[in-house]
Amino acid sequence: MRKTNVRSRAWTVILAALGLFALSGASGCDGDGGAPRIPHTVTGRTDCLGCHGSGGGGAPQVPADHAGRSNAVCLDCHSVVGSGY
Ligand code: HEC
Ligand code: HEC
Repeated sequence: MRKTNVRSRAWTVILAALGLFALSGASGCDGDGGAPRIPHTVTGRTDCLGCHGSGGGGAPQVPADHAGRSNAVCLDCHSVVGSGY
């Protein structure tokens, strides 16, 4: 009986740790969250949608789920390669 309790408590701790890990990774705008990183500098390139939303310049275009997102929020999810955040 006592042995079973100890074992199930250990599982609770392990599952809680895994849950926290998953949450911290899946919280979205933490500089990763599945958003591809920006391979170019953003200095002087603040009009993201000027390239990524216009179809011009050969830039990859924003996917449909980006409707309604403005230039002000892009960097919340997309971080520059090598910026470390
Ligand atoms: C002058 C045009 C231009 C501007 C402005 C610009 N980009 Fe880009 N971006 C590009 C091009 C072209 C690429 C394709 C990769 C390359 O050649 O650098 C690219 C690549 C990317 C990628 C990688 C896409 C992938 O498929 O991996 C992301 C993310 C990105 N840009 C985000 C941004 C964000 C966010 C901004 C605004 C802060 C921005 N870009 C401003 C032209 C631009
Ligand atoms: C809430 C987080 C978030 C915000 C804000 C955001 N993105 Fe994204 N972006 C993503 C994710 C995640 C993907 C991966 C593909 C998808 O969502 O379909 C992506 C994909 C992209 C791609 C496509 C890359 C490819 O390979 O085709 C481009 C370009 C891009 N984003 C640019 C932008 C620009 C420009 C802005 C600001 C107007 C922006 N994103 C705002 C999360 C975000």
